[in-house]
Amino acid sequence: MTENKRVTFGSKLGVLMATVGSAVGLGNIWRFPYMLGENGGAAFLLIYLICILILGLPVMITEFFIGRHTHKNAAGAFKAMAPGTRWSLIGYNGVLAAFLILGFYSVIAGWTLEYILQSVTSPMANKSVEVFASEFSAFSSGLIRPIAWTIAFITITHIIIVSGVKNGIERASKIMMPILFLILFILCIRSVTLPNADKGLAFLFQPDFSKITSSVTLSAMGQAFFSLSIGMGCLITYSSYFNKKTNLQTTALQVTLLDTLVALLAGIMIFPAVFSFGIAPTAGPELVFITLPNVFAQLPMANVWSFIFFILLGLAALTSTISLHEVATAYVHEEFQFSRAKAALLVSTGVLILGVISSLSFGIFKGYTLFGLTFFDLLDYVTAKIMLPLGGMMICIFVGMRVDKKILKAELTNEGTVPFYFFNTYSFFMKYIAPVLIGIVFLNELGVIKGIQRFF
Ligand code: TRP
Repeated sequence: MTENKRVTFGSKLGVLMATVGSAVGLGNIWRFPYMLGENGGAAFLLIYLICILILGLPVMITEFFIGRHTHKNAAGAFKAMAPGTRWSLIGYNGVLAAFLILGFYSVIAGWTLEYILQSVTSPMANKSVEVFASEFSAFSSGLIRPIAWTIAFITITHIIIVSGVKNGIERASKIMMPILFLILFILCIRSVTLPNADKGLAFLFQPDFSKITSSVTLSAMGQAFFSLSIGMGCLITYSSYFNKKTNLQTTALQVTLLDTLVALLAGIMIFPAVFSFGIAPTAGPELVFITLPNVFAQLPMANVWSFIFFILLGLAALTSTISLHEVATAYVHEEFQFSRAKAALLVSTGVLILGVISSLSFGIFKGYTLFGLTFFDLLDYVTAKIMLPLGGMMICIFVGMRVDKKILKAELTNEGTVPFYFFNTYSFFMKYIAPVLIGIVFLNELGVIKGIQRFF
């Protein structure tokens, strides 16, 4: 009963849309450009794309396998497949990650709400680059407004999670996604036709290999996991609602392609404008929010563009926060025998506390840092760069060690009814390449590899 109250995916398109809805969000349009800007541009993009292909895709297929095979939530799936073992720690890691990600994600999601309002109330056409930047920093470092928006966004997510209007969301994303693509496309064209746009395109597409460091590699890997919503059981939870006919391979391929396309469009939309307006590519989390208004201001009916864009971005964020909230709520609900409403309330309250502190870390808590990171940055770092890759690595090791290849193949080919031409390649990558590569990136970042080299 309670199982059915989670997400139910009506159609083939519904499956794809819900999963794309989870994957496409602030990660693509806000986090990707900001990470790329901070990590040397095209070199980051190159490693990101490699990670998507050789880590992201295999991990996603593997999560789909676990979810549909067990029809369980992130933690329950591991309990079902390996009862009485510690493998369920992978699930707990995921539940905790969902909670922590929501804690900073909802702050940025809240910013989109502020920008929707501003599109209505404050004329943009004649503002200068400096004015946009200073207005943003006044807003984000403020006390009441950003917190109010964060709370508003968490509340909206909460209401959707408890009222189960996911069919509405599913239907909305079918309309929203194509419009989002269209508007990104138009903004890309506007951006690449600005003066000095070529510098931005060069930054994005001409890799400077000397920029590839262990920290850039870890950032790119983390971004690949974050953007695809993998490594923490989100897609295990979603695929537990897939039916037996869903083609797991093509779904994974389509989600990955669409997600990567949106990130690339976001890059093409942002960087030419960044260079044209003289904004620093390393601006950090504010990059997109200070760059985009300038692009809108260069269009006729600036406020209308801004309004439509931020509504779409807010909705894209919402389909992602729902998927994150669902992971934690489903777990609390099933594990502690709380009603769904109570479980959701518990999760939302916790997220609210994290969200408020995260929001304040752009203002009065800016000076409080750990390892040089503010609370916001710390949540982002720990989840994207540690928990998700580690989770992904463990998921691969788990399936590689515990699951009979025949069972794996049967599930991934829908009992032999759809072909899987590259099954052996996939299984080799999942079992050996992905865990080893993720491990190397970790060791490299920790300096272990340099230490060993020095030793010899
Ligand atoms: N992928 C989403 C984005 O790009 C965010 C997200 C949703 C996520 N669910 C997740 C990230 C699970 C990591 C894990 O905005």
